[in-house]
Amino acid sequence: MPKVTTLWLTVAAAVTVLATDAAIVSPASGTKIKPGATFAFEYRTAADYCVSSYNFTVWLDTQDPTSLYPSNTWARGVFLGEFALPNYPGNPYPRNLPPSNFTMPDFSISPGGFGVGSKVNDAHIKLLVLEEYQTCAGGLGNTIGFHYANLIYNATS
Ligand SMILES: *[C@@H]1O[C@H](CO)[C@@H](O)[C@H](O)[C@H]1NC(C)=O
Ligand SMILES: *[C@@H]1O[C@H](CO)[C@@H](O)[C@H](O)[C@H]1NC(C)=O
Repeated sequence: MPKVTTLWLTVAAAVTVLATDAAIVSPASGTKIKPGATFAFEYRTAADYCVSSYNFTVWLDTQDPTSLYPSNTWARGVFLGEFALPNYPGNPYPRNLPPSNFTMPDFSISPGGFGVGSKVNDAHIKLLVLEEYQTCAGGLGNTIGFHYANLIYNATS
């Protein structure tokens, strides 16, 4: 086989490995969580051979974004934090490790000032993760992975 073809096949084989199995391990979709309750959190990053994972941000989404157009009322939710998990060689010693759990906010309580809470039962909300990673295949900027788990806030049953 000509050398260039061999090289190309080697690169192509490496590229196919780059489909990552990043996932929200916990909470499982369908988990019912009461306001103020602690729930387990575990995220598996995209990190792998040829894939370096940097930070990921975690959000609770209580109302999905309307579209990708600018809007003053684009979505609802709260930011839970920016974290990273160790992966060699991209980010071996992150100082912002994720917690093993989060506490579900009580959305009936005012977040402060003019803000007014809202008391709801059986609300379908989501825990979102947006992860920045980059692969040895290259690309303009980091690749951003998006995952979510469906949750039921303040379930009555
Ligand atoms: C990762 O997140 C931490 C915590 O927010 C921040 O201090 C750090 O600058 C971030 N690193 C990058 C590369 O974005
Ligand atoms: C929740 O996470 C915090 C911070 O990581 C930890 O200190 C605490 O022990 C955890 N609680 C439970 C119930 O797992």
